[in-house]
Amino acid sequence: MTISINGQDHTLPDDPRTSLLDFIRRDAGLTGTKKGCDHGQCGACTVLVNGVRINSCLSLAVTHDGDTVTTIEGLGQVATPSAMQQAFVDHDGFQCGYCTPGQICSATAMLQEIAAGWPSDATEDLEAKPQVTGEEIRERMSGNLCRCGAYANIVAAIQQVAD
Ligand code: FES
Repeated sequence: MTISINGQDHTLPDDPRTSLLDFIRRDAGLTGTKKGCDHGQCGACTVLVNGVRINSCLSLAVTHDGDTVTTIEGLGQVATPSAMQQAFVDHDGFQCGYCTPGQICSATAMLQEIAAGWPSDATEDLEAKPQVTGEEIRERMSGNLCRCGAYANIVAAIQQVAD
């Protein structure tokens, strides 16, 4: 059983109790993804699985045979950041930075969800390009907590990419 993480294939663990988060950090050595609560409450462990954002602490690695995972390292690099990574830098969308990888992964997926026409509070017309308000960003990002309270800058960063 294998899983692709940021374009590299990895053999899934023998221990069926290994979370996807622990597999990513310990076995794949990708420590950009953070462990906060380990109980699905903070969003620090958010990664994209087949393009959909999930809390990797709540998912068992062995259930991801054949899946494609993207972590913060897969979105961009220091020299070539993604638009969302650059926006977080531009707007100081962090303080301690611990929640930042999860915030950026979640925000990246969130804008893809909106572009794909997932239900939006901003409009009932799915044909229309939804205007993403700060309020909607806060609602859609409510699964990602920032204990430093850098929310205003996080929303500004996401708004930069959305506009
Ligand atoms: Fe997974 Fe907090 S570490 S939600």
